[in-house]
Amino acid sequence: MQRITNTVICESAQIPSSALLGPFCVVAENVILGERVILGAGCVLAAGVRLGDNCKLGNYVTLGQDVKLGSDVQIGDHTTVYSQAFIGKDCFIGSNSSVGRYPRPAVTSTVKIQSDLPALQLGEGSTVGCSAVLYAGSTYAEQVFVGDRAVVRECCLIGRNVIIGSGVTVENDTSIGAYTKVQTGSYVTAYMEIEERVFIAPMVTTTNDNFMGRTEKRFKLVKGPTICRGARVGGGSILLPGVKVAAETFVAAGALVTKDTVPRQVIKGFPAKEIREVPQEELLAPDACLKNKNFPE
Ligand SMILES: CC(C)(COP(=O)(O)OP(=O)(O)OC[C@H]1O[C@@H](n2cnc3c(N)ncnc32)[C@H](O)[C@@H]1OP(=O)(O)O)[C@@H](O)C(=O)NCCC(=O)NCCS
Repeated sequence: MQRITNTVICESAQIPSSALLGPFCVVAENVILGERVILGAGCVLAAGVRLGDNCKLGNYVTLGQDVKLGSDVQIGDHTTVYSQAFIGKDCFIGSNSSVGRYPRPAVTSTVKIQSDLPALQLGEGSTVGCSAVLYAGSTYAEQVFVGDRAVVRECCLIGRNVIIGSGVTVENDTSIGAYTKVQTGSYVTAYMEIEERVFIAPMVTTTNDNFMGRTEKRFKLVKGPTICRGARVGGGSILLPGVKVAAETFVAAGALVTKDTVPRQVIKGFPAKEIREVPQEELLAPDACLKNKNFPE
Protein backbone atom coordinates (compact mmCIF):
# COMPACT_ATOMS: atom_id res chain seq x y z
CA MET A 1 0.00 0.00 0.00
CA GLN A 2 1.27 3.46 -0.91
CA ARG A 3 1.28 5.90 1.92
CA ILE A 4 -0.57 8.58 -0.06
CA THR A 5 -2.41 7.78 -3.31
CA ASN A 6 -5.26 9.96 -4.47
CA THR A 7 -5.74 10.96 -0.87
CA VAL A 8 -6.66 14.44 0.31
CA ILE A 9 -4.90 15.57 3.49
CA CYS A 10 -5.39 19.01 5.03
CA GLU A 11 -2.20 20.81 5.85
CA SER A 12 -3.06 21.08 9.54
CA ALA A 13 -3.37 17.27 9.90
CA GLN A 14 -0.53 15.60 11.81
CA ILE A 15 0.41 12.27 10.29
CA PRO A 16 3.55 10.49 11.47
CA SER A 17 5.74 8.80 8.89
CA SER A 18 4.89 5.39 10.41
CA ALA A 19 1.20 5.75 9.40
CA LEU A 20 -0.10 4.00 6.27
CA LEU A 21 -2.99 5.50 4.36
CA GLY A 22 -4.86 3.66 1.62
CA PRO A 23 -6.07 5.37 -1.56
CA PHE A 24 -8.99 7.79 -1.70
CA CYS A 25 -8.90 8.78 1.96
CA VAL A 26 -9.93 12.27 3.07
CA VAL A 27 -8.23 13.64 6.17
CA ALA A 28 -9.72 16.96 7.33
CA GLU A 29 -8.17 19.77 9.32
CA ASN A 30 -6.57 19.23 12.72
CA VAL A 31 -6.71 15.44 12.53
CA ILE A 32 -3.96 13.81 14.59
CA LEU A 33 -2.91 10.22 13.89
CA GLY A 34 -0.82 8.15 16.32
CA GLU A 35 2.17 6.03 15.36
CA ARG A 36 1.63 3.05 13.04
CA VAL A 37 -1.99 3.88 12.28
CA ILE A 38 -3.35 2.08 9.20
CA LEU A 39 -6.25 3.42 7.17
CA GLY A 40 -7.82 1.29 4.43
CA ALA A 41 -9.13 2.69 1.17
CA GLY A 42 -11.68 5.49 1.18
CA CYS A 43 -11.61 6.38 4.88
CA VAL A 44 -13.00 9.81 5.77
CA LEU A 45 -11.69 11.48 8.92
CA ALA A 46 -13.58 14.67 9.75
CA ALA A 47 -12.04 17.69 11.44
CA GLY A 48 -10.49 17.18 14.86
CA VAL A 49 -10.41 13.36 14.76
CA ARG A 50 -7.69 11.78 16.90
CA LEU A 51 -6.45 8.23 16.59
CA GLY A 52 -4.15 6.63 19.17
CA ASP A 53 -1.16 4.50 18.25
CA ASN A 54 -1.70 1.27 16.28
CA CYS A 55 -5.31 1.96 15.33
CA LYS A 56 -6.40 0.04 12.26
CA LEU A 57 -9.37 1.09 10.15
CA GLY A 58 -10.75 -1.07 7.32
CA ASN A 59 -11.99 0.28 4.01
CA TYR A 60 -14.50 3.13 3.81
CA VAL A 61 -14.63 3.85 7.51
CA THR A 62 -16.03 7.29 8.37
CA LEU A 63 -15.16 9.07 11.59
CA GLY A 64 -17.25 12.17 12.38
CA GLN A 65 -15.99 15.44 13.75
CA ASP A 66 -13.84 15.24 16.90
CA VAL A 67 -14.17 11.46 17.23
CA LYS A 68 -11.44 10.12 19.52
CA LEU A 69 -10.03 6.60 19.38
CA GLY A 70 -7.67 5.30 22.08
CA SER A 71 -4.70 3.19 21.05
CA ASP A 72 -5.02 -0.24 19.38
CA VAL A 73 -8.62 0.24 18.23
CA GLN A 74 -9.74 -1.79 15.20
CA ILE A 75 -12.73 -0.86 13.06
CA GLY A 76 -14.14 -2.95 10.19
CA ASP A 77 -15.11 -1.92 6.66
CA HIS A 78 -17.95 0.56 6.08
CA THR A 79 -18.49 1.42 9.73
CA THR A 80 -19.38 4.99 10.73
CA VAL A 81 -18.52 6.49 14.11
CA TYR A 82 -20.53 9.68 14.61
CA SER A 83 -19.25 13.04 15.78
CA GLN A 84 -17.72 13.48 19.25
CA ALA A 85 -17.85 9.78 20.12
CA PHE A 86 -15.07 8.39 22.30
CA ILE A 87 -13.84 4.83 21.73
CA GLY A 88 -11.54 3.51 24.47
CA LYS A 89 -8.29 1.71 23.81
CA ASP A 90 -8.28 -1.91 22.61
CA CYS A 91 -11.85 -1.75 21.34
CA PHE A 92 -12.92 -3.78 18.31
CA ILE A 93 -15.84 -2.69 16.12
CA GLY A 94 -16.94 -4.95 13.25
CA SER A 95 -17.99 -3.93 9.76
CA ASN A 96 -21.15 -2.07 8.71
CA SER A 97 -21.88 -0.74 12.19
CA SER A 98 -23.16 2.72 13.17
CA VAL A 99 -21.68 3.92 16.44
CA GLY A 100 -22.99 7.05 18.16
CA ARG A 101 -25.72 7.87 15.67
CA TYR A 102 -28.22 10.53 16.60
CA PRO A 103 -31.89 9.57 16.98
CA ARG A 104 -34.39 10.64 14.39
CA PRO A 105 -37.83 9.61 15.62
CA ALA A 106 -40.83 9.11 13.35
CA VAL A 107 -43.13 12.09 12.89
CA THR A 108 -45.80 10.24 14.89
CA SER A 109 -43.39 8.97 17.55
CA THR A 110 -44.11 9.95 21.17
CA VAL A 111 -40.50 9.78 22.33
CA LYS A 112 -38.95 13.21 23.00
CA ILE A 113 -35.31 13.50 22.01
CA GLN A 114 -32.95 15.65 24.02
CA SER A 115 -31.43 18.18 21.61
CA ASP A 116 -28.05 18.13 23.37
CA LEU A 117 -27.46 14.40 23.75
CA PRO A 118 -23.93 13.71 24.95
CA ALA A 119 -21.74 11.72 22.59
CA LEU A 120 -21.39 7.97 22.91
CA GLN A 121 -18.61 6.65 25.17
CA LEU A 122 -17.35 3.10 24.67
CA GLY A 123 -15.16 1.76 27.47
CA GLU A 124 -11.78 0.20 26.79
CA GLY A 125 -11.55 -3.39 25.66
CA SER A 126 -15.13 -3.46 24.38
CA THR A 127 -16.27 -5.39 21.32
CA VAL A 128 -19.05 -4.37 18.97
CA GLY A 129 -20.10 -6.84 16.26
CA CYS A 130 -21.09 -6.31 12.64
CA SER A 131 -24.15 -4.28 11.63
CA ALA A 132 -24.75 -3.09 15.19
CA VAL A 133 -26.40 0.30 15.76
CA LEU A 134 -25.45 2.19 18.92
CA TYR A 135 -27.05 5.58 19.54
CA ALA A 136 -25.50 8.72 20.95
CA GLY A 137 -26.11 9.58 24.60
CA SER A 138 -25.29 6.11 25.93
CA THR A 139 -22.26 5.16 27.99
CA TYR A 140 -20.60 1.77 28.02
CA ALA A 141 -18.11 0.73 30.70
CA GLU A 142 -15.09 -1.47 30.03
CA GLN A 143 -15.14 -4.82 28.22
CA VAL A 144 -18.72 -4.68 27.10
CA PHE A 145 -19.69 -7.05 24.29
CA VAL A 146 -22.39 -6.05 21.80
CA GLY A 147 -23.27 -8.75 19.26
CA ASP A 148 -24.04 -8.56 15.55
CA ARG A 149 -27.20 -6.64 14.59
CA ALA A 150 -27.86 -5.48 18.15
CA VAL A 151 -29.41 -2.04 18.63
CA VAL A 152 -28.86 0.06 21.75
CA ARG A 153 -30.77 3.34 21.91
CA GLU A 154 -29.89 6.67 23.53
CA CYS A 155 -29.44 7.47 27.23
CA CYS A 156 -28.56 3.93 28.31
CA LEU A 157 -25.94 3.08 30.91
CA ILE A 158 -24.22 -0.22 30.27
CA GLY A 159 -22.03 -1.62 33.06
CA ARG A 160 -18.68 -3.35 32.74
CA ASN A 161 -18.46 -6.82 31.17
CA VAL A 162 -22.09 -6.75 30.08
CA ILE A 163 -22.99 -8.98 27.13
CA ILE A 164 -25.69 -7.76 24.77
CA GLY A 165 -26.27 -10.66 22.40
CA SER A 166 -26.88 -10.79 18.66
CA GLY A 167 -30.06 -9.13 17.52
CA VAL A 168 -30.93 -7.79 20.98
CA THR A 169 -32.72 -4.44 21.16
CA VAL A 170 -32.16 -2.22 24.19
CA GLU A 171 -34.50 0.78 24.12
CA ASN A 172 -33.75 4.24 25.50
CA ASP A 173 -33.15 5.27 29.14
CA THR A 174 -32.37 1.78 30.34
CA SER A 175 -29.53 0.75 32.62
CA ILE A 176 -27.84 -2.64 32.68
CA GLY A 177 -25.59 -3.58 35.60
CA ALA A 178 -22.14 -5.11 35.44
CA TYR A 179 -21.70 -8.73 34.25
CA THR A 180 -25.29 -9.03 33.10
CA LYS A 181 -25.95 -11.16 30.00
CA VAL A 182 -28.79 -10.47 27.60
CA GLN A 183 -29.01 -13.31 25.12
CA THR A 184 -29.87 -13.45 21.43
CA GLY A 185 -32.99 -11.71 20.20
CA SER A 186 -34.30 -10.39 23.51
CA TYR A 187 -36.23 -7.13 23.67
CA VAL A 188 -35.32 -4.78 26.52
CA THR A 189 -37.88 -2.01 26.69
CA ALA A 190 -37.37 1.67 27.53
CA TYR A 191 -37.07 2.88 31.16
CA MET A 192 -35.91 -0.45 32.55
CA GLU A 193 -33.43 -1.03 35.31
CA ILE A 194 -31.50 -4.26 35.13
CA GLU A 195 -29.06 -4.77 37.97
CA GLU A 196 -25.76 -6.64 37.91
CA ARG A 197 -25.22 -10.37 37.21
CA VAL A 198 -28.69 -10.80 35.72
CA PHE A 199 -29.19 -13.50 33.08
CA ILE A 200 -31.77 -12.88 30.37
CA ALA A 201 -32.23 -15.91 28.12
CA PRO A 202 -32.96 -15.70 24.36
CA MET A 203 -36.13 -14.06 23.04
CA VAL A 204 -37.36 -12.59 26.32
CA THR A 205 -39.89 -9.78 25.88
CA THR A 206 -40.21 -6.89 28.32
CA THR A 207 -43.00 -4.28 28.14
CA ASN A 208 -43.67 -0.82 29.59
CA ASP A 209 -47.14 0.37 28.53
CA ASN A 210 -50.38 -1.26 29.67
CA PHE A 211 -52.39 1.13 27.50
CA MET A 212 -50.62 0.16 24.28
CA GLY A 213 -50.38 3.69 22.94
CA ARG A 214 -53.88 4.89 23.94
CA THR A 215 -54.99 7.56 26.51
CA GLU A 216 -53.02 10.47 27.91
CA LYS A 217 -52.58 8.91 31.35
CA ARG A 218 -50.29 6.27 29.90
CA PHE A 219 -47.51 8.87 29.81
CA LYS A 220 -47.52 9.04 33.61
CA LEU A 221 -47.72 5.30 34.06
CA VAL A 222 -45.24 4.05 31.49
CA LYS A 223 -42.67 1.97 33.33
CA GLY A 224 -40.39 -0.84 32.35
CA PRO A 225 -39.73 -3.83 34.60
CA THR A 226 -36.93 -3.84 37.16
CA ILE A 227 -34.76 -6.95 37.29
CA CYS A 228 -32.74 -7.22 40.48
CA ARG A 229 -29.27 -8.60 41.08
CA GLY A 230 -28.66 -12.17 40.02
CA ALA A 231 -32.18 -12.84 38.73
CA ARG A 232 -32.53 -15.23 35.79
CA VAL A 233 -35.24 -14.90 33.19
CA GLY A 234 -35.92 -18.02 31.06
CA GLY A 235 -36.22 -18.23 27.29
CA GLY A 236 -39.26 -16.64 25.66
CA SER A 237 -40.79 -15.33 28.88
CA ILE A 238 -42.72 -12.06 29.03
CA LEU A 239 -42.46 -9.38 31.74
CA LEU A 240 -45.42 -6.99 32.06
CA PRO A 241 -44.94 -3.23 32.66
CA GLY A 242 -43.47 -2.18 36.00
CA VAL A 243 -43.04 -5.64 37.53
CA LYS A 244 -40.08 -6.13 39.83
CA VAL A 245 -38.22 -9.39 39.42
CA ALA A 246 -36.54 -9.80 42.81
CA ALA A 247 -32.92 -10.75 43.43
CA GLU A 248 -32.13 -14.35 42.40
CA THR A 249 -35.65 -15.06 41.15
CA PHE A 250 -35.63 -17.81 38.51
CA VAL A 251 -38.31 -17.23 35.88
CA ALA A 252 -38.99 -20.49 34.02
CA ALA A 253 -38.93 -20.58 30.23
CA GLY A 254 -42.11 -19.30 28.63
CA ALA A 255 -43.50 -17.70 31.82
CA LEU A 256 -45.74 -14.62 31.93
CA VAL A 257 -44.65 -12.43 34.85
CA THR A 258 -47.64 -10.33 35.93
CA LYS A 259 -46.57 -9.19 39.43
CA ASP A 260 -43.55 -8.61 41.63
CA THR A 261 -41.66 -11.77 42.53
CA VAL A 262 -40.21 -13.06 45.78
CA PRO A 263 -36.40 -13.32 46.07
CA ARG A 264 -34.82 -16.75 45.44
CA GLN A 265 -38.04 -18.37 44.20
CA VAL A 266 -38.56 -20.30 40.96
CA ILE A 267 -41.70 -19.08 39.20
CA LYS A 268 -43.32 -20.84 36.29
CA GLY A 269 -46.39 -20.75 34.09
CA PHE A 270 -48.90 -18.43 32.46
CA PRO A 271 -49.36 -16.41 34.67
CA ALA A 272 -46.25 -17.35 36.62
CA LYS A 273 -46.59 -18.83 40.12
CA GLU A 274 -44.00 -19.75 42.73
CA ILE A 275 -43.14 -23.42 42.61
CA ARG A 276 -40.07 -23.81 44.83
CA GLU A 277 -36.92 -22.17 46.15
CA VAL A 278 -33.87 -21.69 43.96
CA PRO A 279 -31.38 -24.39 45.03
CA GLN A 280 -28.66 -23.03 47.31
CA GLU A 281 -25.87 -24.13 44.96
CA GLU A 282 -27.27 -21.94 42.17
CA LEU A 283 -27.17 -18.71 44.20
CA LEU A 284 -24.45 -16.14 43.55
CA ALA A 285 -21.62 -15.82 46.00
CA PRO A 286 -22.40 -12.78 48.19
CA ASP A 287 -19.28 -10.95 47.00
CA ALA A 288 -19.79 -11.64 43.26
CA CYS A 289 -19.60 -8.12 41.89
CA LEU A 290 -20.56 -5.62 44.55
CA LYS A 291 -23.49 -3.40 43.81
CA ASN A 292 -22.44 -0.07 42.43
CA LYS A 293 -25.21 2.30 41.50
CA ASN A 294 -22.69 4.60 39.88
CA PHE A 295 -21.60 2.25 37.17
CA PRO A 296 -19.99 2.27 34.66
CA GLU A 297 -17.16 1.67 37.11
C1 LIG B 1 -38.03 -24.36 35.49
C2 LIG B 1 -37.35 -25.48 34.73
C3 LIG B 1 -35.87 -25.55 35.15
C4 LIG B 1 -38.03 -26.79 35.01
O1 LIG B 1 -38.31 -26.87 36.38
P1 LIG B 1 -38.76 -28.19 37.12
O2 LIG B 1 -39.53 -27.80 38.32
O3 LIG B 1 -37.54 -28.98 37.32
O4 LIG B 1 -39.74 -28.87 36.08
P2 LIG B 1 -39.85 -30.40 35.71
O5 LIG B 1 -39.00 -30.64 34.52
O6 LIG B 1 -39.64 -31.25 36.93
O7 LIG B 1 -41.36 -30.46 35.30
C5 LIG B 1 -42.41 -30.38 36.26
C6 LIG B 1 -43.70 -30.10 35.51
O8 LIG B 1 -43.70 -28.76 35.02
C7 LIG B 1 -43.80 -28.76 33.59
N1 LIG B 1 -42.87 -27.74 33.17
C8 LIG B 1 -41.52 -27.81 33.09
N2 LIG B 1 -41.02 -26.63 32.68
C9 LIG B 1 -42.06 -25.83 32.49
C10 LIG B 1 -42.17 -24.48 32.07
N3 LIG B 1 -41.09 -23.76 31.77
N4 LIG B 1 -43.38 -23.94 32.00
C11 LIG B 1 -44.50 -24.65 32.28
N5 LIG B 1 -44.45 -25.94 32.70
C12 LIG B 1 -43.24 -26.51 32.78
C13 LIG B 1 -43.43 -30.14 33.14
O9 LIG B 1 -44.05 -30.47 31.91
C14 LIG B 1 -43.92 -30.97 34.27
O10 LIG B 1 -45.31 -31.11 34.13
P3 LIG B 1 -46.05 -32.48 34.59
O11 LIG B 1 -45.79 -32.61 36.05
O12 LIG B 1 -47.48 -32.22 34.24
O13 LIG B 1 -45.41 -33.55 33.78
C15 LIG B 1 -37.43 -25.25 33.20
O14 LIG B 1 -38.80 -25.14 32.83
C16 LIG B 1 -36.80 -23.94 32.75
O15 LIG B 1 -37.44 -22.92 32.70
N6 LIG B 1 -35.51 -23.97 32.38
C17 LIG B 1 -34.82 -22.76 31.91
C18 LIG B 1 -34.48 -22.91 30.44
C19 LIG B 1 -33.94 -21.63 29.89
O16 LIG B 1 -34.69 -20.73 29.58
N7 LIG B 1 -32.63 -21.52 29.75
C20 LIG B 1 -32.03 -20.29 29.25
C21 LIG B 1 -30.67 -20.50 28.67
S1 LIG B 1 -30.74 -21.36 27.13
